[in-house]
Amino acid sequence: MPDTIDPAIASDWLAIGDSLGLVPGTSRRARLLGHDLHVRRRPDGALEAWFETEPTRPCHATDHCGFILLCLGDEPRPLFELAAFANPARRFLYMGGFGIHSGPLRVVENFLDMAHFPFVHAHILGSEEATEVRGYEVELDARQELWARDCKFIQPLASADAKGGADVDYVYRVVNPFSPMLYKHPAGRSAELADIIFLFIQPTDEERCIAHFAISLFDAQSSSGEIMAFQQNILGQDKPILENHVHKKLPLDPRIEVPSRADAASSTFRRWLRDIHLRWGIEAQSTEPRPRLSVEVAGKRTVARDIVEFRLRSPRRGPLPSATAGSHLDVHLPNGQIRQYSVCGQDDEGYTIAVKREADSRGGSIALHESVQAGMQLEIGLPKNNFRLDPRIEHAVLIAGGIGITPILAMARDLAARGKRPVLHYFCRSAEHAAYRAELEALLGTNLHLHLGLSPQQTEDQVRQALQAGGDAHAFACGPAPLMQCIERVAAERHWPADRVHFEYFRRTTPVEATGPAFTVELARSGRRVQVASDTTIVEALRAIDIHLDTSCEQGVCGTCLCTVIDGEPDHRDQYLSAGEKASHMQMLPCVSRSRSATLVLDL
Ligand code: FES
Repeated sequence: MPDTIDPAIASDWLAIGDSLGLVPGTSRRARLLGHDLHVRRRPDGALEAWFETEPTRPCHATDHCGFILLCLGDEPRPLFELAAFANPARRFLYMGGFGIHSGPLRVVENFLDMAHFPFVHAHILGSEEATEVRGYEVELDARQELWARDCKFIQPLASADAKGGADVDYVYRVVNPFSPMLYKHPAGRSAELADIIFLFIQPTDEERCIAHFAISLFDAQSSSGEIMAFQQNILGQDKPILENHVHKKLPLDPRIEVPSRADAASSTFRRWLRDIHLRWGIEAQSTEPRPRLSVEVAGKRTVARDIVEFRLRSPRRGPLPSATAGSHLDVHLPNGQIRQYSVCGQDDEGYTIAVKREADSRGGSIALHESVQAGMQLEIGLPKNNFRLDPRIEHAVLIAGGIGITPILAMARDLAARGKRPVLHYFCRSAEHAAYRAELEALLGTNLHLHLGLSPQQTEDQVRQALQAGGDAHAFACGPAPLMQCIERVAAERHWPADRVHFEYFRRTTPVEATGPAFTVELARSGRRVQVASDTTIVEALRAIDIHLDTSCEQGVCGTCLCTVIDGEPDHRDQYLSAGEKASHMQMLPCVSRSRSATLVLDL
C-alpha cells in the first residue's frame, strides 16, 4: 500500500462507478484518494485494478450491490451486508456520478443533515411549516457502521411517485466514512419496502469528489427518467451549497469554522472521524487562537440613557466580513477582557454595535464607555451567529428588553428591507432608555409596540398578547433574564414549537451550577494533566497552571471558551450548546461544564 494512503481509510471499499458501466473486455481510469488507477473488466467478467504509476502494484476490486468498489489497502474490510438488495422485485437505478468541488466528507455530512431539508429542498423534502428535526437514535455499531434510526420528517413530495405530503421514516447507514445510504419509507409502510438511496462518494482528492447516486426501490409506476429527474434535482440543489464552503475539507476543530448547531448524526459522524484519527480530507487543526480583525472606531454617540453606539470600520476602509442579522462580535477590550456585543447593523463602512453601561458590570461596558473613543483601534473576532433569522420567515414577532434591542434592531431592518412586516414589542424602563426609537417608528409604524416602565405582571400580560399569534410566526427574543424566563414560560404554555421561538441570552436564566466531583483533564496536544477540584472550573484549573483559554461570560452562554472533547464524557452545564450537540459530547464549554468520567481529554 502506498504510504500516502491514510491508514484510517486504507481498508475501506470505495465506489468508483456502477457495475454495468464497465462491460467485459473494457477498462477505464479512476482516481481515488489522490491516486490514479486503471480498472479493467476481464472477458470473464472479473475485475482487476492497478496503480497507474506502478502497473505491477494491484489493488482490490469487486462488484457489490450494483457498484464497482476498490480498496487501496492491503487488507480490505469485509464488504457491507445488504440482503434486501438481492430481492428480485426491487429495481436498481444508477443515476450517475456527479463531480462536486467540495471535500468528500462535507458531502457525506450534508447527506446526513436533515435540518437543511426545509430550506434547501423546500416543498420537496421539507417545508417551512415544519422545520423541526425530531429526536432520533444514533449509534456506531460493532461493525463500525454509523446508524441513525427513527428519523421522522414531514415531506411535501418524498419521492417521484408521491401523491402529496407524507410523514416519512428515515434510517441512515454509513458503512464507511465515504459511503452513506438511506432507507426511506412513508410512515406506516413496512421497512422491508423502503427505498434504499445510495450516495457513495468517490473521494478523488481532499477537496473534490464524485458522488455516485443510485436507488433500489419497488416503485413500478414511475419511469426511470422520472425517478432520476427527481433525485438529480435534489442533488442539484445541494451542489452549489456544498461548493460554497470556505473550507472544502471537513473541519473537526471548532476554532476553524464558526461553530454551528450540528444535529446528532453529523456530530456523531465528526466524532467517529476523529476517533479513527482520520487526517485525509480533514481541515488541519488550528494551532492559532481564533482569528481577529483590527478595526477603527469611526464614531461614538449616545443613543439612549446609558447606551452608547460605536461604529467600527476597517482601518484600510475596506469591506468587513458579512454579519447577518442576529450576529455578534467578540470585542477585545483595551483592559484585556473579551466581551460579546450584537451587531445592530452593517453598511459599506462597517459594523455598528451599541453598549449599555452596566452598573454591576465586570468592567467590560465601563471600559468601552470610558476608555474607547473615536479614532482608536480595537480588535474584534469574526462575526458569529447563534441567533439566525431564516430569510424564508414571513411572519416574525420580535421581543426586546432594554439593550436586547441590538440584535432585534438588525432583524427588524433585515425583515423590513425584504418587504416583511415584523411586529416588535420593545420593553424599556422609560422613554429615555429606548434606543433607536425614532428609527424603529419610521421602520415599523404601528407594528412597533413600545412598553415603558411596566411592572412584572404588566410585562407578562404584554408577552401573552405578543405570543397570541401562532400560525407560521417565529418569535425572536433578547433581553434580561426575567423577561426571557417570562417568554419561555408563556411560549411553553401556548405550545409554541421549540423551533419557532428563538432566544439570544446575554445572561443565564438559571443559576450556574459549576461544582461537582473532582476529575482530571488531559490536554491532548501537550499531554499535560491537571486535576479539577470539586469547587473549581476547568478554566480556573488551567489558569492555575498558566494556561489561559479565551473566555468572556464564564457563565456558559457566550460560546467563547468552546473546545473539542477527544475522550471522556462531559457534564454539560451551559446554555449555549443545543441538546443534540450536548448529546454528541464532541464539544464543551469548560467555563461551567465538568466531567462525568474520571478523565476528560480535551483538544488543547
Ligand atoms: S466563556 Fe462564555 S461560554 Fe465559556
